[in-house]
Amino acid sequence: AVARLRGRSIVLVGLMGAGKTHVGKRLAAFLDLPFVDTDQEIEEAARMTVAELFAAYGEPEFRALEARVVARLIDGPQHVIATGGGAFINEETRRILKERSVTIWLKADLDTLMERVSKRPTRPLLKTADPRATMKNLMDARYPIYRTADIHIHSRNAKRDTIAREIVQSLA
Ligand code: S3P
Repeated sequence: AVARLRGRSIVLVGLMGAGKTHVGKRLAAFLDLPFVDTDQEIEEAARMTVAELFAAYGEPEFRALEARVVARLIDGPQHVIATGGGAFINEETRRILKERSVTIWLKADLDTLMERVSKRPTRPLLKTADPRATMKNLMDARYPIYRTADIHIHSRNAKRDTIAREIVQSLA
């Protein structure tokens, strides 16, 4: 689709609520590429939701599954791939993604993230006494890592179409 990609997949990384899935779907449509979401892939393979997986097997097992799913997808045909917020934090996953895909960090401010995750309160990591403080801690811990992505896009409150277009432009 876009020359700069040279057949590589586009991988969206960033925190929960940044809009990776919504923007990714729109981006895939613009670029005429198939879309895949790693959380959804995991849920289909395990026949359980992410929350059920966390509860039944714990986070480390989920992370191992996630790393395998990303590695498999990167070995396959070109896609737009939305990852779960923790995928890029895994060192080996990050190495593979940096080497073989174009990574895009979708960034949003704390209020936007909290507003969006509250619409779909399914994230096990945010089942804490103070989800906002938890999200803030995740920002502090993860931003230095997300920052190593190839392209940074601030999603603000813009519509998913606008953000997807901005990504297409950034690839030109
Ligand atoms: C996680 C993000 C979630 C999901 C899991 C853990 C994280 O995906 O993979 O709940 O560690 O940030 P989304 O970013 O799609 O919500």
